[in-house]
Amino acid sequence: MNSVVVGLQWGDEGKGKIIDYLAKDTDIIVRFQGGNNAGHTVVFGNRKFVFHVIPSGILRKNKVCVIGNGVVIDPKVLLSEITGLKAKGIDVSPRNLKISLLSHVIMPYHKLMDSFRESRRIQKIGTTMRGIGPCYVDKFSRCGIRMADLINPKKFTLKLRDNLKEKNPLFVKVYKRAPFSFKKILDEYCYYAKLLKPYCCDTIDFFYKNKRKRFLFEGAQGTFLDIDYGTYPFVTSSHTVSSNAILGSGAAPIKIDRIIGVTKSYATRVGEGPFPTELKGKLGDYFRNRGREFGATTNRPRRCGWLDLVLLKRAVMVNSVTEIALTKLDVLDGTEEIKVCIDYKGETKERHSDYGLDEVKPFYKNLKGWNKDLSSVRNYADLAPLAKKYIVFIERFIRRKISFISVGELRKAVIVR
Ligand code: GDP
Ligand code: IMO
Ligand code: MG
Repeated sequence: MNSVVVGLQWGDEGKGKIIDYLAKDTDIIVRFQGGNNAGHTVVFGNRKFVFHVIPSGILRKNKVCVIGNGVVIDPKVLLSEITGLKAKGIDVSPRNLKISLLSHVIMPYHKLMDSFRESRRIQKIGTTMRGIGPCYVDKFSRCGIRMADLINPKKFTLKLRDNLKEKNPLFVKVYKRAPFSFKKILDEYCYYAKLLKPYCCDTIDFFYKNKRKRFLFEGAQGTFLDIDYGTYPFVTSSHTVSSNAILGSGAAPIKIDRIIGVTKSYATRVGEGPFPTELKGKLGDYFRNRGREFGATTNRPRRCGWLDLVLLKRAVMVNSVTEIALTKLDVLDGTEEIKVCIDYKGETKERHSDYGLDEVKPFYKNLKGWNKDLSSVRNYADLAPLAKKYIVFIERFIRRKISFISVGELRKAVIVR
């Protein structure tokens, strides 16, 4: 059985937790896009791990984690993630972590470009400033540096020289900043290359040889941050949707059996951009505190709001979702009246078919909340009847089964149906 896990909202749906849970029944876990803009949290025992580049299956024993060609890698961040895990006694070695030779490297000028562009924009995106967008731009304009280049000193020297030749005048003349030093970057990145080289792998060959194993593809960000299907331009610079799982990993011989879409029981968003069901007042603050909604990467407070079923239905279509993992149901415990958006008021479908979502007004269905603590429930039968009603309402609306219900951050806090 091969599965893809993707976020159905604006990221932070709890993908990390679901990946860690599902990893137990798989052999190979693959990240296929994004970079260290992602922050995937896994709480294991009384320890909390936040993964930015390494797949969230790394805590499971005897699995292989792969960073696919669709990922952009900040070598310093990846190395500190490896070191941090090792320091906590987690096994990370070239045996269980493989990095695609075709993945692209985030360079210092990408990070600076990200912050310069963001600070000068009138319409801000609120990026994570990790250099993600500029790195993907270089990939597609064919001046990117790949892992294969990084670990080859001759190629790396040439490519770095070429990039600085093009970029330094821009930084000096337009952004009025000192030029980047060729020697400094060369020394620093050659040091990273030496440490990362043993992990580098021809993933095409690796997937082909392992095609009979069980695969789990880990998406980052969420559907409405997808470069095409999201709320453009307030999106990230990669394809976050399920169809990128194969392309972003090079796993062509692998047939996908399940596409699991992860959604919170409410909604959150970090950064700028439309959010029709956003709660700006006290209720929004309440969910932020109760759900501990602060960015796992940037620690920014997440904007909070009600679950938007119009968007969820769209996300199910875009990703061809076969089943749903509903997370953070426990956060709604004690909320007297729960709203879910079932339509947009006074707007024609045509007008918003680009899903820019400017100025749409949500139309809500009000559901009664449950006054029970769900965090220790492990069987569907033991859930409060009103919580079951909420689940069934969502299922009927989006016409998909909710197979996993998460009621706490711990690994064991999952109800499987
Ligand atoms: P990801 O980026 O999709 O992996 O999600 P994040 O890790 O950024 O954010 C999800 C947060 O919610 C993390 O702090 C998780 O530990 C936490 N979390 C996940 N599932 C649940 C749940 O069912 N209940 C509660 N209370 N917290 C959860
Ligand atoms: P995970 O994988 C939530 C958001 C940023 C910003 C926009 C573009 O943890 O769900 P970027 O740095 O990618 O150019 O920023 O995308 N963003 C995320 N929001 N979770 C994430 O990842 C995100 N990765 C990027 O806040 O609005
Ligand atoms: Mg996150």
